[in-house]
Amino acid sequence: MSYDDAIKALSNDALKDVKDYSVIGLGSGRAATALVKSLSKLMEVKEFHIVGIPTSLQIKLIAEEGGIPIVEADQVDHIDVVFDGADQIDSQKYVIKGGGGALLRENILFSLAKKVVVMADKTKFVKNFTRTVPIEIHPLARTSVDNHIQKLGGKVEIRTLDRGYPFFTENGNIVLDCDFGTIKNPKILSQKIKQIPGVLECGIFLRKPDIIYKAKTGGKFDII
Ligand code: A5P
Repeated sequence: MSYDDAIKALSNDALKDVKDYSVIGLGSGRAATALVKSLSKLMEVKEFHIVGIPTSLQIKLIAEEGGIPIVEADQVDHIDVVFDGADQIDSQKYVIKGGGGALLRENILFSLAKKVVVMADKTKFVKNFTRTVPIEIHPLARTSVDNHIQKLGGKVEIRTLDRGYPFFTENGNIVLDCDFGTIKNPKILSQKIKQIPGVLECGIFLRKPDIIYKAKTGGKFDII
């Protein structure tokens, strides 16, 4: 039994409260992919009329393949529940997102959602954040944002693809992966980062999830 088994098991559990005619936000990444696959099975079995709002082309393709009707975020005024993965979760239940570069749309969906459900494996749970913080910025703000981040104590690296080309988000922006060491006050740091001109999204989300699933080995999981 692997991590994937645990994600599959928790996906089914996370979907148990989903009702017919729900508007569901679809996160990006491995955990969200497993959830979307389970969701399409549920829709088929229960003949549910669900609408999915994707956070990226990655998950949109998975949803389309599973026969989930897609609507974009600007066509709805609320989302019943968002299901998403996370890159790190601290003891205050803040999450770091953006490892896949979908942070801007993910945070828009979090803000529209009545309920946010986050699913991650146990290695991503920490007391204080230690990983780099993804920050989506306008490409022309690269130098100025770098200076601001350094003043906040961060080390900046532009995200690149395997062969060294810069990574562009689906919104045509670039991502800076910023190392702040151990982050003791994520709320203040996120607020400061979001005030920098040219910053479009910060990977430390201030909307905490309502439910967090922790995937363990052996196909088991905890609900936090
Ligand atoms: C996408 O930008 C990210 O926020 C993902 O949701 C995050 O990286 C988790 O992905 P996995 O479920 O693949 O670990």
